[in-house]
Amino acid sequence: MPNLIPVLTKEEIDKVVSEIARRISSDYKGCDLILVGVLKGAFIFLSDLIRQLTIPVKVDFAGLSSYGTQTSTSGSIHLTKDIEIDLKNKDVLIIEDIIDTGLSLTYLVDHIKTFNPKSVKICALLDKRERRKADINIDYVGHVIEKGFLVGYGLDYAEKFRNLPEVYHLKT
Ligand code: IMP
Ligand code: MG
Repeated sequence: MPNLIPVLTKEEIDKVVSEIARRISSDYKGCDLILVGVLKGAFIFLSDLIRQLTIPVKVDFAGLSSYGTQTSTSGSIHLTKDIEIDLKNKDVLIIEDIIDTGLSLTYLVDHIKTFNPKSVKICALLDKRERRKADINIDYVGHVIEKGFLVGYGLDYAEKFRNLPEVYHLKT
């Protein structure tokens, strides 16, 4: 049995999601907001978040994949699913589960900018600092952790554990 140590409970996740939704709803009032969820990890966070927004919003997804070991990004990133909504002159907010090295997000931000959006910002449930390689500014952060490999609430290890309702630290 893998060793799962609780990091964020259901109640803590609800609080974090409500607070971020409140800030986004206020910051993007009157804007043409498009949320771009990063597959697959962000699907649960995104689905909870959009239901708490009080402003109109459109949703799309981008698929990113990196060739690397199972617990770290190699830096060789490619798109597995492109965005379908026209982003020109729109306010784009990327929704990510966790930012580790930041290389995936840097790649996605550069890609999104080629569509000439009005703005591009980043929202991540988890900000993992220890292995950061890219200098990126995360505009909305749910929870900061220094290190470790997290699973649950959309996050996986080898495609497992996404269905767990809370976030855990996986000790192997
Ligand atoms: P980055 O490019 O190193 O920032 O990696 C970001 C992506 O790697 C995230 O979107 C996740 O899919 C995955 N990832 C990074 N750290 C973890 C983790 O602790 N648990 C699960 N997935 C992770
Ligand atoms: Mg991901």
